[in-house]
Amino acid sequence: MKAVVRLDKYLADMGAGTRSAVKEAIRRGLVTVNGRTVCAPETKVHIETDAVCCDGRPVSYVSYEYYMLNKPAGVISATQDLRERTVLDLIDAKCRRDLFPVGRLDKDTEGLLLITNDGDLAHRLLSPKKHVSKLYYAKLDGCVDAADVSAFEAGLAVDEQLQALPAHLTILSADKDAHTSEVLVEIHEGKFHQIKRMFEAVGKTVIGLKRLTMGSLHLDERLLPGQYRTLTKEELELLKSGTDAFRKAAEKMCGSDVAAALNAGKSMTLEAAFNGIEAVIFDLDGTLVDSMWMWKDIDIEYLGRFGIAMPDDLQDAIAGISVTQTARYFKTRFGIKDSIGQIIDDWNQMALEKYTYEVPLKSGAREFLKWLKYRHIPCAIATSNSRELTRAVLESHNLNDAFDVILTGEDIHKGKPDPDVYIAAAGRLKLDPKRCLVFEDIPFGIMAAKAAGMRTIAVKDGDSVSDEHQKRSLADGYICDYYDLFCRFYEELKQ
Ligand code: URA
Repeated sequence: MKAVVRLDKYLADMGAGTRSAVKEAIRRGLVTVNGRTVCAPETKVHIETDAVCCDGRPVSYVSYEYYMLNKPAGVISATQDLRERTVLDLIDAKCRRDLFPVGRLDKDTEGLLLITNDGDLAHRLLSPKKHVSKLYYAKLDGCVDAADVSAFEAGLAVDEQLQALPAHLTILSADKDAHTSEVLVEIHEGKFHQIKRMFEAVGKTVIGLKRLTMGSLHLDERLLPGQYRTLTKEELELLKSGTDAFRKAAEKMCGSDVAAALNAGKSMTLEAAFNGIEAVIFDLDGTLVDSMWMWKDIDIEYLGRFGIAMPDDLQDAIAGISVTQTARYFKTRFGIKDSIGQIIDDWNQMALEKYTYEVPLKSGAREFLKWLKYRHIPCAIATSNSRELTRAVLESHNLNDAFDVILTGEDIHKGKPDPDVYIAAAGRLKLDPKRCLVFEDIPFGIMAAKAAGMRTIAVKDGDSVSDEHQKRSLADGYICDYYDLFCRFYEELKQ
C-alpha cells in the first residue's frame, strides 16, 4: 500500500461512500485534511500522518484488512456480479471497498475463503510456485478405497489438461452398500474445479465440498456459513511468514519419530504417525469442545447470585480439579451455605443450556473422530466434568456412538493432575497406557496423562493461551486444531 493516496480513494477505501459519493462530499466542502477544508478529490494525503475528517467524523486509514469467511453454497467468488450474489455481498458495507477473495471456490463449494485487500499476500498464497496446501472435506457418490489413495499419492493424470501433483487422500468413511464416501483431500495447487475433476478421474462424483484450510489458516468452526471474522494477529503472522503450520504441528505431534522421518526425507501419513497407538483418549472441555469460556461465564454468574465478584485467581485455582472438588472449594472459599450436591445441581442447570445450544466442537474434531472410527481405533473420554453434561454435549453433537469408554469426575474422584482417570480409562479399554494417545488442553491434564505413562498431545485453546509455553514443554506434541493431524509431508513437490 502506497503511503500517499488520493483523498477520494482514501475515503472510498475506508467505506465513507462510493468513489462518486465521496467526490461529491469533498466538492461540497465536507472534508477536511489536518483541519483545513479540501475541495479537490485528487488532493494527495499521507495515510499515516494526515488527519482526515468527513462530515465532522475522523476517518483514519487502515491499510490492510483480512477476513476469514465461511463461504456458503450459492454465492460466487467474485467482487461483483450483475446477476449473482458474490462473497463480497456478505461483507459489511462499512468494510473497505477494495477487498477481494483470495482464489476461487465454486458456487456450490463451502468453507474457508480469505477476503483481503493485500495483493502481495494474495499473490504469495496463490502462486503456483509456492504449493500452498489446501485441505478439503468432500462427500462423494462412490466408494473410495486404498487404490484411490495410492492413485492420488502418485499424482493423477486427471484429463488432457491436468496432471495433478501428488495429493493426500484420507478416508473418513466409505460405504460399499450406500455407494458413498467422506474424505479429506489435501492438494498443493489450485486448478479449475480441481477436486471435482480429480474424483471424476477415479470414477466418483463430488456431491459436497468444503474447504477447511489454506496454508496455515484453518476455518474457524464457530463461523456459520455466510459469517466472517477478522484474522487474529497470530493467524496473520503465520500466514505471512509462510510457515507451514501443518508440518510444524505434526513434527511436534509425533515427537522425534516424525522429526527423524522428516530429516531422513521421508513422508509420513497419519496412519504411520499412529503406529503403536491402539486407542485415543480425549479430555472434554477445551480439548474436544470449545467450552472453556463458558465455565468462566458460569462462575461469574453463579458468584454474582451471592453478590460476590469473581476473584482473578479463581480459574487457576480450580483448573483440572473434579466438579466435586470444585464445589467443595467454592463452599469453603466463598462460605456458600448450599450443599455440595445443590451447588453442582445449580451449575449443571446453568451449563446444560449452554452445552446443548452454544458449545461448538473444536475444529476438525468430528473428522478426526470419523477417521478413528474408520480405522477401528477405540476412543475414550476422560473428563473432570459431570456425567450429565458430558452426555448433553455428546448428544447435541450426535457423538453418542463415537466413544467406547466415558469416564467423568463422578466416576473418578481425584482430579487431574492425578493420573487416576487416565489409568482407569486404559483399564476400561483393556490396554497398556503406553498404547494410548491423549489429547489435552491444560497443563494439569497433560501432567495427569504423562503421569499415567501416555503419549500426550496438547491442543490449543483460546482460554489457555497464557499456558501455551508450558503446554508445549510438558506435552509430546502440540496441535492448533485436529486438521493439523491430517497433514501430509512432501520432501520436495515435483512439478
Ligand atoms: N476444487 C473444486 O473442484 N472446487 C472448488 O471449489 C475448489 C477446489
